[in-house]
Amino acid sequence: MQKEELQKVERAHEIALKVIDFAHPLVKENSNVLDITEKIEKKIYELGGKPSWPVNISINEIAAHFTPTVGDTLTLKENDYVKVDLGVQVDGYISDHAFTVKVGHKDDELIEASCKATEEALKALKPGVKVFEVSDIIENVVAEFNFNPIRNLAGHATARYNQHEEPSISNARNKIQTEIPVDTPIAIEVFTTPGTGWVKESRPLSIYRFREDKPVRMWEAKKILELSKTEFDKLPFGARWIKSFTPMKVEMALRQLVEIEALDTYPPLKEESNQPVAVTEDTKIIRG
Ligand code: CO
Repeated sequence: MQKEELQKVERAHEIALKVIDFAHPLVKENSNVLDITEKIEKKIYELGGKPSWPVNISINEIAAHFTPTVGDTLTLKENDYVKVDLGVQVDGYISDHAFTVKVGHKDDELIEASCKATEEALKALKPGVKVFEVSDIIENVVAEFNFNPIRNLAGHATARYNQHEEPSISNARNKIQTEIPVDTPIAIEVFTTPGTGWVKESRPLSIYRFREDKPVRMWEAKKILELSKTEFDKLPFGARWIKSFTPMKVEMALRQLVEIEALDTYPPLKEESNQPVAVTEDTKIIRG
């Protein structure tokens, strides 16, 4: 990326750090998950950014990709592992972040493992570093805590209006010799679990993204496909972001758009052995 582009990523990063400070105290017992996500998204706008995707709040064995729907009554309980994943974009330039809170606890080993592994991986991001070197660090740190990383989730680069760009930086040991590029935003995200360390797709669907223009008959579906390109910048969006139709119409339209493959979906990702998951994520640029 050029200097001006990198400055926009940095701006997004600054906003994200402020938003994280704001968000932390919201994650507490009896808080409503929808209320937290809406407050965080509002804060992102207030600080001059735009959410790169609907704020994800994934609880316990759900590792990622859960966002509440309209009228959602889900609340946080003591001992819940609450993962808040948020992205901020400035003119399409993305900074990607996540943190975990165990409700009612100050310290927790599982969270500490993901923090420490992320921190060490970020330190290793220097010119010339290869994917396998960073993955090695991650798996080693997590193993010191006697946990597993989630092996089918990965850190990644980002590009303008693209939240997941190559290379992927696996949380599991590998032999990938690819050099991690300089002057490119790199998100390190380490998921830790006492479980087996694999996630599989789950339900319900609440996050979508523009895929391809397709002819569609239903008027609401046509409008939503438009929105996915304009208002939502071809980045992931939440069903609850569509306010112009009733939730039932929105659901019908989305179902149709997924069926004809005009939209992609991001199903919630669940740890396969139903064990809790923690995550820490930050974005860094290696200066070339
Ligand atoms: Co990410």
